Amino acid sequence: MKFFADTADTAEIADLAQTGLLDGVTTNPSLIKKSGRDIIEVTREICGLTHGPVSAEVVALDHAGMMKEAEILRKIADNVCIKVPLTIDGLKSCKALTSDGTMVNVTLCFSASQALLAAKAGASFISPFVGRHDDNGFDGMNLIEDIRLIYDNYGFETEILVASIRHGIHVLEAARIGADVITAPPSVIKGLFKHVLTDKGIEGFLKDWAETGQAIG
Ligand code: G3P
Repeated sequence: MKFFADTADTAEIADLAQTGLLDGVTTNPSLIKKSGRDIIEVTREICGLTHGPVSAEVVALDHAGMMKEAEILRKIADNVCIKVPLTIDGLKSCKALTSDGTMVNVTLCFSASQALLAAKAGASFISPFVGRHDDNGFDGMNLIEDIRLIYDNYGFETEILVASIRHGIHVLEAARIGADVITAPPSVIKGLFKHVLTDKGIEGFLKDWAETGQAIG
């Protein structure tokens, strides 16, 4: 399973990249706003921090406008992945861009039938938003199960990128289902490293080690 960081905070991305476990980054207009930076400048910097795909989202709602913005965004770096919304114009743009060899992440997916359409449009990634699904009284992980089943039924190569992740259990459930990628805030990814018994174990070992009076090397 690939781990993407869902942020435009370059310090946090650089920190995660040092673990060697970061496979890519996703951004959206809200995350660009939070960064307080220019989209082109910050996306270029992020693309230099990971070899993996970096999703940059178009904001035009019509096909021509999306293609125009995608043309600007994809010139930033070879690892830019154009993010388009799951609308008719978004999927038209997805088809055109992927046919031309550009990576595309189709975002704001809330149903399995939408995910089927995105796969038919040749999407590189489909982004179902599990957290927002849960927030609205639906079961986000049921959606991931349905998409996995449908993609496997037909051998679609579109990667299931589980987005809008709120906590470590979402990551665990996505892995159980066999999702290809999760994108999560850095705090959630860092939280996966933690376990109270790991900390307690280290504390106990160090206490006993100190009493041996030894040093390694
Ligand atoms: O990047 C898309 C998605 O991960 C947004 O998450 O927390 O705003 O629902 P959230």
